[in-house]
Amino acid sequence: MKVTTRDQLIKLLMEHEHEYISGQALSERLHISRTAIWKHMKELEKDGYHIEAYPKKGYRIASPNHRFNASTIKWGLQTKWLGQTVVFEEVVDSTQDVAHKTAQKGAEHGTIVVTDKQLKGRGRRNRIWASDHAEGLWLSMILRPELSPFEASQFTLFTAVSLVETLQKLTGLTIHIKWPNDLYIRNRKVCGILTEMQAELESVNYIIIGFGLNVNQTEDHFTDAIRERSTSLSLESNRTWDRIQLLQAILEDFETNYYKYQQEGFSYIRKKWLHYAYKLGEEVKIITPHRSFFGIIDGISADGALIVLNENGEKEVIYSAEIHW
Ligand code: BTN
Repeated sequence: MKVTTRDQLIKLLMEHEHEYISGQALSERLHISRTAIWKHMKELEKDGYHIEAYPKKGYRIASPNHRFNASTIKWGLQTKWLGQTVVFEEVVDSTQDVAHKTAQKGAEHGTIVVTDKQLKGRGRRNRIWASDHAEGLWLSMILRPELSPFEASQFTLFTAVSLVETLQKLTGLTIHIKWPNDLYIRNRKVCGILTEMQAELESVNYIIIGFGLNVNQTEDHFTDAIRERSTSLSLESNRTWDRIQLLQAILEDFETNYYKYQQEGFSYIRKKWLHYAYKLGEEVKIITPHRSFFGIIDGISADGALIVLNENGEKEVIYSAEIHW
């Protein structure tokens, strides 16, 4: 991922959001002239950033909420195909629904659907995904890989690995993956992934990977029902994050990892997944559609299923379950 001067500038401003940073300091940090800094500031203002500038003090981002739309998402995005077509609507019921419709109309591989707010965001097992505010990243990607339907679940695990790597790199936070598709920081969920597809018996027509990432939420944004179990990047790092920068980094890394995944197969993802796995080797409660029991998480199989050691110490392969502890 190439980090542009603009990216670095935004990062510096966001890190100093409570104080002014002088033109001189910025110019030294970024190795560009003060005039170039000033020009970048004007560009940022055009994109809706509210920049305060005072002669003796310097610059400050007064409000990190800048416009979030198809053109700001694509501006400077270093990908070949992922996110090169952006469907953006400020409010939708669910980006998954828009993505299905868009895919059925023939949208190309890599098209993304993004929104500020979802009125009927949904999670796995048709649970509600509360996302009626613009503090998170709510996104669905339309992919058209050559894949058999049974391999599709690998894609969820692949997405989780790619997201963890990008987010850890950007935020410095330690993030784990709870099987199959939740990202956790400490004991709280920060991101959920939902994979849906349209397939024939033998082949996948298209696959839609949606994820909801909690970015700048405060505790008040979470409903009572999930507050104790949820967190955001902001709550964990005590700073505000630029959703566009995050999204661009996520897309760029996803595309790079996608090539590696295609070349090296799932074993490459599996190794990484195990490295980030939450509660690996620990006892958890496993609730399958048929029974619930305590078992020790032992790993994942070659096709992404969960392997647990049951009460009798025998290995069981689980394809669908909720994990609790
Ligand atoms: C889960 O944890 O159960 C998965 C949550 C997935 C939420 C995302 S937000 C963007 C996309 N649109 C939706 O309605 N759901 C997914």
